[in-house]
Amino acid sequence: MRILGIETTCDETAAAIVERGADGRGHILSNEVLSQIEDHAAYGGVVPEIAARAHVEVMDVLVKRALAGAGLKLSDMDGIAAAAGPGLIGGVMVGLTTAKALALVTQKPFLAVNHLEAHALSPRLTDGVDFPYLLLLASGGHTQLLVVKGVGDYLRLGTTIDDAIGEAFDKVAKMLGLPYPGGPQVERLALEGDAKRFNLPRPLIGRKEPNFSLSGLKTAVRVEAEKIAPLSEQDVRDLCASFQRAIVESIIDRTRMAFERLNDLQIPVTALVIAGGVAANSAIRAGLESLATLKKLPLIAPPPALCTDNGAMIAWAGLERLSLGLTDGLDFAPRARWPLMIESDSRESIRHV
Ligand code: KG4
Ligand code: ZN
Repeated sequence: MRILGIETTCDETAAAIVERGADGRGHILSNEVLSQIEDHAAYGGVVPEIAARAHVEVMDVLVKRALAGAGLKLSDMDGIAAAAGPGLIGGVMVGLTTAKALALVTQKPFLAVNHLEAHALSPRLTDGVDFPYLLLLASGGHTQLLVVKGVGDYLRLGTTIDDAIGEAFDKVAKMLGLPYPGGPQVERLALEGDAKRFNLPRPLIGRKEPNFSLSGLKTAVRVEAEKIAPLSEQDVRDLCASFQRAIVESIIDRTRMAFERLNDLQIPVTALVIAGGVAANSAIRAGLESLATLKKLPLIAPPPALCTDNGAMIAWAGLERLSLGLTDGLDFAPRARWPLMIESDSRESIRHV
């Protein structure tokens, strides 16, 4: 089975082709991503209108490239998938409409994919992870601890009560005069900083519910920075290191609580998985690695290129759904908000068995 997947929910335009072979494993045949980071850099964040226009400009070229890279034609596809949300609505419309048009002209099944579900299922593409697994989904827009029990079957254990983890990295970076997106910048500078210099809070640590809170930590960084302004380069490095250490400790504590909850619910999991853009952070990966070892579980982290937004994860989620006989109608509307449902997916998919 081969699927073309299209992603346009934020500031990456992406198209990819993924195949599931006879061995049941997924193979990425092509994976084209065009980042708009430069278009948004001057504004310190993603500007929705600029994003939507930029998607339109490159969408067709990217689909062509994905097909050429795989040496395939549209007629070789078994289905066409696009992220239908959640995301910036103008951008979502671009990818969704493109996929619908391609499905219509080729008469192939159309798959409306939830972007969060695509992140959640991506470790099955990269590492063939079996259900159920505990997933920390951490990106610029989302922070969730989920049990992934099956396709469309998710149990949310915790989420953020304010900022997303990636958003906190981006806001702290902006505050320290670093370019967008801030995560990679903070990580790089933290390597040469003193993580013990600033005494920052570890929000919610020890609380039973595995939720996150980042805004107090972000404010604490601001207060410390204002106390010593103007900041030297070393001050910035030390603030980055102290902030990152606080985030890592908070993530480990929150994930530990999620494991306790799993224990109470008597749900055994096969792995601890981290996905979403923040999963590219080595300090966070290392912290979770030691927790997983303690739990005698593997830590699975898709390679960085598949942690950040990409088309392969959309194609794979479409493939998983199509394998179950699930497809969507061409009237499927784009969704700015689309939470992963507790227990089961709310969508009324067409089931062909
Ligand atoms: O999943 P993603 O590409 O897009 C969505 O938000 O859906 O995630 C992007 C986020 C940004 O907030 C970025 O700063 C963060 O992931 N990020 C990182 C790192 N690389 C990307 N955060 C911390 N450390 C990193 N190395
Ligand atoms: Zn994402």
